[in-house]
Amino acid sequence: MSSKKRREEDEEEQGQGSGTARKQEGLYPLLLMILRMTKNSPYPFWYGETHAGCGRNRKVDCEGSPLTFGRAARDSGKKEINAAFCDINPVAIEELRKYADVLPSDSLFFCQNNADFLLELTCRIRAKEPNPKFAWGAIFCDPQKYRDFPIKALAEFMFEFRKIDLILNLNATLFQMFQGCKESLNGNVPVKHMDKPTRRELIAMFHKKYWLVRNLVGKGHRFTLCYGTNNDKFFHEGKHFLDFYDINSVEGKMIFDALHNVNPDQLEFPF
Ligand SMILES: C[S@@+](CC[C@H](N)C(=O)[O-])C[C@H]1O[C@@H](n2cnc3c(N)ncnc32)[C@H](O)[C@@H]1O
Repeated sequence: MSSKKRREEDEEEQGQGSGTARKQEGLYPLLLMILRMTKNSPYPFWYGETHAGCGRNRKVDCEGSPLTFGRAARDSGKKEINAAFCDINPVAIEELRKYADVLPSDSLFFCQNNADFLLELTCRIRAKEPNPKFAWGAIFCDPQKYRDFPIKALAEFMFEFRKIDLILNLNATLFQMFQGCKESLNGNVPVKHMDKPTRRELIAMFHKKYWLVRNLVGKGHRFTLCYGTNNDKFFHEGKHFLDFYDINSVEGKMIFDALHNVNPDQLEFPF
C-alpha cells in the first residue's frame, strides 16, 4: 500500500477523513429532530459528547460534532439545554472552548477519560433533576478504537437514564473483525478478541427499544451512525427517515448485519 493511501486510511480511522462531513450531515437532522421533540417540555435537555474533539475537522475543513450540535440547538429553538463536552486531549478541549459562543450557553468542557465523564454527568443529573430517571436528552459517542469506547460506563448510564437517547457512530469494520476472529476459530480457542461483543450484542447493552442505522461511511474503516431510543412516539413501523433505517427492516439488516449500503430515498423525519 502506498504511503499516501496508508495516511488517508489512518486519517479515516482517526475520524479526520472525508467521512467526517458525511457523518455530520447525518448527525444534524437527527439532533434537530430529537431537540424538537422536547422543545415544549419545561425540563432541560441533557446532552453529552464522549469524544468531542476540537470543534473543527482540520483535514476536510468542516465543523466538528459539538458545532453541529450547537447549530441544531439554535435551529430547534429549544432553550433549556445542559450540554457537556469531553475529550481526553487537553489541546482539543482548549481549542473547543474557543467556540463557546456558538454552543449552548453554560456548556461545560471536561478534559478526562470518557468513562469518568459519564459518571460525572450521572452525578450532575441526579443532583439537578427532581426525578432523574425521567431526564431527557442524548449522548453522542464517537469512538474510533475499541480502547476509547466506554462500553461499560455507557451501558450503566443508559440503564439509569432510559429517556436519554444514544447516538453512536459505530466502527462497524472493527466489530466485524472481532466477529470474524471468533467465527474462524469456531469459538474453540481463547484469543485476544474472544470477549468482544458482536454488533448486535453491543447495542443490546444500551437498553434501547428502537434502533435506526444509517448507510455506512468511510473507505478503510466503515462507520454507521446508529440512533437508539425508547420513545414509542418516535417509532413508525416500516418507515424510515432520510438515510436512517429501522435496524430490523430489510434495509437495516443489510446495513447493520451485512455491511452493505442501500439506496437512500429522501423521506422526511417525522418531527
Ligand atoms: C474522531 S475525534 C472526535 C471527533 C468529533 N466527535 C467530531 O465529530 O468532530 C476522536 C476524539 O476522541 C478523543 N478520545 C480518544 N480517547 C478518549 C477517551 N478515552 N476519553 C475521551 N476522549 C477520547 C480524542 O482525543 C479525539 O479528539
